[in-house]
This record gives sequence, structure tokens and C-alpha cells, in this order.
Amino acid sequence: MARQLTPLLPRIVAGMEVLPAVHPRPGLPPRVSIYEVGPRDGLQAEKAVVPLPVKLELIDRLAEAGLAVIEATSFVSPRWVPQLADADELMAALRRRPGVRYPVLVPNERGFERAMAAEAEELAIFVSATESFAEQNLGTTLDGAIQMATPVVKAARARRIPVRGYVSMCFGDPWEGQVDPGRPADIAARLVELGCSTISLGDTIGVATPGQVVTVLERTEAAGVPRNQIALHLHDTYGQALANVLVGLEAGITEFDSSAGGLGGCPYARSATGNLATEDLVWMLDGLGIETGVDLPALVETSRWLAAELGRPSPSRVVAALGS
Ligand code: HMG
Ligand code: MG
Repeated sequence: MARQLTPLLPRIVAGMEVLPAVHPRPGLPPRVSIYEVGPRDGLQAEKAVVPLPVKLELIDRLAEAGLAVIEATSFVSPRWVPQLADADELMAALRRRPGVRYPVLVPNERGFERAMAAEAEELAIFVSATESFAEQNLGTTLDGAIQMATPVVKAARARRIPVRGYVSMCFGDPWEGQVDPGRPADIAARLVELGCSTISLGDTIGVATPGQVVTVLERTEAAGVPRNQIALHLHDTYGQALANVLVGLEAGITEFDSSAGGLGGCPYARSATGNLATEDLVWMLDGLGIETGVDLPALVETSRWLAAELGRPSPSRVVAALGS
């Protein structure tokens, strides 16, 4: 049941103190692309299944707030992730806005067939840098996960459909502990060779620290993945996500994944808490004078609305600060 919200937008527009002062830093990119994962990475981790009309409204509000890339859902096994079992209906009912991309997550050929039937125009496949997570998340080995993704990438490329490749557990794994930076670098290079257009390096459980991010980026580039094809997918479990974004920016990364209101986690990764909140990311980027195209007050209002729908407050610091 939606609760009544106090009006936020007029307060933000009127109150200078609730927008960050802009102080650009030399050497950072003028613009970055935010890859919004809330409707997929966020809602897949909710205990309750969020009703389809709420999902559709969320996606539409995110687009209205200026997010140009919104991962809408996933075509995984409904037995594994019942929260997103309505992917086919969602894509059929989605109001696709011109200029907004709506990629979907696909694990295997069955998922690819469903995504094509749903007229998805962009895909993301996902593999792991560790054996344990490949087993937990996909029920296979690390090589098995790449084999599962291979026909998806090939079939998509034949149709000129871009495919993003996620590599999970690039920095630490709840079953295996620390991860050698050579492992995500090697997997990322294999995915680029396969034909993935962008590689999203995932800190699935949010344990990465800035020096480690730089090391993994350097190793990944040295393995043959150009920096302009690398995105960072950061979770905020240990409060390191924004520090990790900053070193990513300094290293020339221009694509970052985040979820509105800091929703998220992963149902198959022990200790994965929320993704980096899009609001927290936008606050920092706005303060640095880096263009994102996102309207922060509209996004905060969306997360407050969603928090009311979910019946619990958003973990985002910016949503809490602006909404209090
Ligand atoms: P499985 O049970 O081993 O599949 O699951 P199977 O091939 O043995 O088939 C069993 C049944 O499932 C069959 O149906 C298939 O048709 C059906 P039956 O003949 O018994 O009626 N099936 C499917 N149905 C619908 N859609 C499909 C599909 N595939 C098979 N795509 C599978 C193997 C890979 C499907 C399963 O392990 C799976 O879906 N895993 C996904 C888990 C998941 O979604 N995890 C979260 C996303 S990853 C993430 O969050 C990390 C990320 O954010 C980055 C980061 O943070 O690091 C991306
Ligand atoms: Mg994730």
C-alpha cells in the first residue's frame, strides 16, 4: 500500500543547501554513463515479489528522471529467481521511451529465446571470476558458465544485438576469500574475445578497496580489454563504493552501475548487500561537475516512493538526507 509522501521537490529547488556545490577536478571525464540496475539487481533480492505495475512504474520513473540505460529484468530460471518470473509480461507492457536503453540479463539459450520473443534490444550475460560463485549462481563451473554464455553472445551478435558481459566476484568471494586480480582480468579478456561490447567488473559482495580496484583495472587492461570497454559494478557493503568510483574515474572509467535507492544484493551470494545507490553516485558526480543527465530530486522522489511501496526505508545516504 503506497503511503502519502511529503512533497520533496519544492524543498530541494528552494533550498540551496540540499544540492552539492560544484568543484570539478582536473583529469576526470566530463561525462559518465550510469547503468541503472535497480529493477533487476535490486528487485531480484527482495524477499517479496514486487507487483508488475510497481516494477513498470519504477522503470518509467527512472527514465523520467533521466536514466538512459535501465536494466529492466532478467530471463533466468523462474525457479531460481521467482522475483523476476514476470520478465516476459514486463517486457510486453514496458513503455519504451526513445533514447532510453532497456537491457535484460540472460543466462543461457533458453533465456535468449525468451528475450528475443520479448523484443529485447540489448542483453547482458553473466559469468564469475570464481568457481564457487559459478556453482552457486549458475549451477556450473567457471568454464561451464562461459560455455553457457557463448551461444547467447554468438546469436546476439548475428542479430547485431549488443551484449554486456558481467564478471562477478572480481575482488572477493564469500566462499573463496580474496580473489587474485589475474582471474577477473583473464575472464574479462575471454568475454571480449567472445564478442561482448562492455565488461562490467563486479564487486558482488562489496569488499573492494581503492588500490585493489586500480590493480584489477590495470590487470584487465593488460589482458587486452580496452579501458573504454570496462564498467564498474560496485556494491556498498563495506562503505567503499564511492571511493572505488573515484579511483575508477581517475583511471578513465566512464560507465558505472548503480541501483536507485541502493536496492539490491544477490540471492545467490552470501553477504551481498545493496548496490551503490544511484543517488549517492549522482551526488558525487554532480559535485565534481561530471554530467550524467540525471535529475537528482526526481530520482530521490522515485526512491522515496519505492521505499513506501516496499515498506522500508532506502539505504541510500542521499535519499535519507534529502527525505528527512
Ligand atoms: P538449471 O535448473 O540447472 O536449468 O538452471 P536446466 O538447464 O537444468 O533446466 C531446468 C528447467 O529450467 C527446464 O525446464 C528449463 O527449460 C528451465 P523443465 O524442462 O524442467 O520444465 N530453464 C529456464 N526457464 C526459463 N528461463 C531460463 C531457463 N533456463 C532453464 N533462462 C540456470 C540453470 C542457469 C537457468 C539457473 O542457474 C539460473 O537461472 N541462474 C540465474 C541465477 C540468477 O539470476 N542470479 C542473479 C543474477 S547474477 C547477479 O546478480 C550478479 C550481477 O549483478 C553482477 C555482480 O553483482 O557481480 C550480474
Ligand atoms: Mg550485482
